[in-house]
Amino acid sequence: MEKHYAVIGDPIEHSLSPGMHNAGYAALGVNAEYQRFHVKPGQLAEAVEGLCALGYSGWNVTLPHKEHIIPLLDSLTPEAKRAGAVNTVKIHEGKRIGHNTDGAGFIRSVEGYLNGFKGKNAVLLGGGGAAKGIALALVEQGMNIHILNRTREKGIELVELIKHWGGTATSGEFAPGDWLTDVDLLVQTTSVGLHDEPFPFSIKGIFSQTLVVDIIVNPKETSLLKEAKKQGCRVLNGLDMLLYQGTLAWEFWLGGQAPVEEMRQALKKQLL
Ligand code: ATR
Repeated sequence: MEKHYAVIGDPIEHSLSPGMHNAGYAALGVNAEYQRFHVKPGQLAEAVEGLCALGYSGWNVTLPHKEHIIPLLDSLTPEAKRAGAVNTVKIHEGKRIGHNTDGAGFIRSVEGYLNGFKGKNAVLLGGGGAAKGIALALVEQGMNIHILNRTREKGIELVELIKHWGGTATSGEFAPGDWLTDVDLLVQTTSVGLHDEPFPFSIKGIFSQTLVVDIIVNPKETSLLKEAKKQGCRVLNGLDMLLYQGTLAWEFWLGGQAPVEEMRQALKKQLL
C-alpha cells in the first residue's frame, strides 16, 4: 500500500523537502509519496487531525509550528523533548510520535570537517529558534558556545538556557572581537543574507582553521561565506544540514538507510 508523507509550514511553497524525499523513494523503489501543505498558525490542530484521518504515516514540521505542535502529539522522543521542538512526526500504531532530527542533522553535516568537538569553541551568530537547536546539539558534543545576537538580551537568555542544559556558554556584542582568533566553528543562523544583503560586519582576521557555516541554502554562498573563503577558512552552506535532517527523518519513518547521494543531488537540482 502506498505510504503518504508531507511537510507542513507557513510559508511552504519554497520547501525543497518534497523533491528530496520523492527522489529518495524513486531511487529505492519505495511505494510512497511526499507532499507539501500550507498550514497557517490557526489551522495547525485541524491540519494534524486531517493528516491522521487521511492515513498519513508521518510528516515534517517547519516554521512556525515546531513548538506549537507538541501539545497535539501523544509522545516525544528524547531528542524532541530536549530540543522542546519537533520537526518530524511519525504515526505508530495510531499514536503521534514527535521527534527532532535538526540537531543530529547539523552535527552530521559538520562532523567530517572537524577533528572532534569536545572542548572546542563554537560562535553562533543569532539567538533565535535555529540557533537554539544548533546550540543544544553542539553542547551535547561538549563544545563551548559563544552567542552573538543583535538583541543582546535574547543572546543572554540563550546563554542561560545552555547553562541549564549543563553546557558552557558566554555572549557578546554582535560585532567583530577577540573571539575571531579563538573560534573552531562559526555558525551563521540569522536571516541576514537570505535576500543577498551583505552581512553587517566583517570577519577579517578570523582564525583560518575555522569551519564557517551559514545555514542559508539559497543563495548558495552568502557574503559571509565569501569573506570566510578569502580568509582561508573552509565553508559550508545549509544544504547538508537540510539533507541530513531529511535522511534522519526518512530513517525514523521507514527504517534502513536513506539514499543520501540521490537525495543530495535532488536538493542541488532544485537549487540550479
Ligand atoms: P529562526 O527560528 O529562523 O532562528 P527567529 O527565531 O525569528 O528565527 O530568529 C531570527 C534571528 O535572526 C534572531 O537572532 C534575530 O536577531 P534579533 O534577536 O536581534 O531579532 C536575527 N536577525 C534577523 N534579522 C537580523 C538583522 N538584520 N541583523 C542581525 N540579526 C538579525
